[in-house]
Amino acid sequence: MTILVTGGAGYIGSHTCIELVKAGYDIVVADNFVNSCMEAVVRTRKLCGVDFPFEEIDLCDYAATDALFDKYHIDAIIHFAGLKAVGESTRIPIEYYKNNLDSALSLLAAMKKHDVKNFIFSSSATVYGADAPVPYNEATPVSRSASSPYGNTKLMIEYILKDTVKAIPGFNAVLLRYFNPVGAHESGEIGEDPTGIPNNLMPYVAKVAVGKLDMVHIFGNDYPTPDGTCLRDYIHVVDLAKGHVAALKKIQQNCGLFVCNLGTGKGTSVLEMVKAFSKSCGHELPYEFAPRREGDLPAFWADPAFARDELGWVAEKGIQEMCDDVWHWQSKNPNGYK
Ligand code: WQD
Repeated sequence: MTILVTGGAGYIGSHTCIELVKAGYDIVVADNFVNSCMEAVVRTRKLCGVDFPFEEIDLCDYAATDALFDKYHIDAIIHFAGLKAVGESTRIPIEYYKNNLDSALSLLAAMKKHDVKNFIFSSSATVYGADAPVPYNEATPVSRSASSPYGNTKLMIEYILKDTVKAIPGFNAVLLRYFNPVGAHESGEIGEDPTGIPNNLMPYVAKVAVGKLDMVHIFGNDYPTPDGTCLRDYIHVVDLAKGHVAALKKIQQNCGLFVCNLGTGKGTSVLEMVKAFSKSCGHELPYEFAPRREGDLPAFWADPAFARDELGWVAEKGIQEMCDDVWHWQSKNPNGYK
């Protein structure tokens, strides 16, 4: 069975390629390197032990996407490719809507033409919106609007896929709602490599640990949580990658529409994360409390029961292992892939 992995040079995509190959799938990887690089593909191939085919294409190019399906026999798609910076999406929403929606639509058009009916989509817990009760479970209706244009592209693509399942007999769509992916491959060869100053907590902390940034700014310490800092459900990227293998097994059973959280079910505070990382890197990381960041929710985490019951998948790695693996990656590659 051959899987097209879009965004396969990216952070979650590259780790998923390894788990797919391990599970016996053939893969074709496509990426336009907008937020990734060939070095990630080279290293992923090495870790897989397979020279899988790679195509540098922009999925918004309908003809190029269609040609990809002419060139390879594809059985299923895992669609990671997309712009994903929440803050940036509020500044350039049109680019976010255009890129993320166009690439999904061009894939669907090519799939329709080539009679490919299995689509696994990288969605996000952000679709639950600000008012959902925690823990988030799949029965909770999605929000009418997510808190950013980025989040809205996830919501819109979910709707497009739901309608496609209704319209095309035999079409299967798995919507995987990720919580906060962190961690890196145990080899320290691949990991998260954001350009510029990281927006997300874990890569920021890692840059402080390696001496590239001065100190961690903890956004808010007066939230209604045990230590006053926000709680998130951090999930190791390798566990997340394995969740995609479980989703592929599900899709092979002709699941129709299948919506599932991928999280651990546990909330960890920002302060706990900084402390755990200090242990991993062997020195106390300097931090200071800063004002709250606009749009942040105090606390949310997944109800992971549905994934356990329906996919037979459970996240296994804890916070310390996540920090150890990020430190391994960051200390081995202080400049990321460069
Ligand atoms: C985590 C916590 C911050 C940076 C976002 C997206 C989500 C998903 C994952 C994907 C918050 C605090 C952060 C820092 C801090 N996206 N923090 N200092 O906001 O939960 O989720 O990333 O592509 O859709 O919204 O993750 O890592 O940015 O923040 O104190 O320098 O860390 O306030 O409480 P978030 P995050």
